[in-house]
Amino acid sequence: VGAVPAHGLVVDLGCGPGREVEQLAARGLAAVGVDLSAGMLRLAARRAPGRVVGGDLRALPLRDGTCDGVWSSYALLHLSDADLAVALGEVRRVLRPGGTAVLVLASQRGGCEQVAYAPEHARVFHARPVETVTGLCRAAGLQVEHADTLEQAWRSPVRVRVRRAG
Ligand SMILES: C[S@@+](CC[C@H](N)C(=O)[O-])C[C@H]1O[C@@H](n2cnc3c(N)ncnc32)[C@H](O)[C@@H]1O
Repeated sequence: VGAVPAHGLVVDLGCGPGREVEQLAARGLAAVGVDLSAGMLRLAARRAPGRVVGGDLRALPLRDGTCDGVWSSYALLHLSDADLAVALGEVRRVLRPGGTAVLVLASQRGGCEQVAYAPEHARVFHARPVETVTGLCRAAGLQVEHADTLEQAWRSPVRVRVRRAG
């Protein structure tokens, strides 16, 4: 939050039920959540009315260079390496020059898992070492300012702070 100007536009990628959209808005930011799931969007709209929009992390419904910040918690972990590369390109595209993104993904220590909801519907959690995540960020044209693994949190996630060069 400190990296974003007061009232700046921050997008929460894969916002789920909107808890963090609500928290970002409470800090005075122009927070918007994006999610693909109609059910999650309904929940998020209750928490953060007028602040959620349907969309895919691989093709964000946002104009180039319009976001001061990007936040994403436990959502990019659902994407394959190829889709993650596309989504990180989208992060770079929507950030304004100098804008910052903080992304939380599963680390290899969290393990890779496929959860079946129905015969033809499964949700995959992709686990990656921190070096893979930082490599994909750099390949997408983002500068890596910080990267670590949070050993104590669920799935020991990789956390990266990246910046679009200003
Ligand atoms: C584990 S939940 C995390 C929700 C929230 N960020 C949180 O930390 O509470 C992952 C979310 O990512 C969303 N998601 C997964 N793939 C997506 C995609 N390609 N585009 C947009 N949202 C996606 C899911 O619908 C789900 O709401």
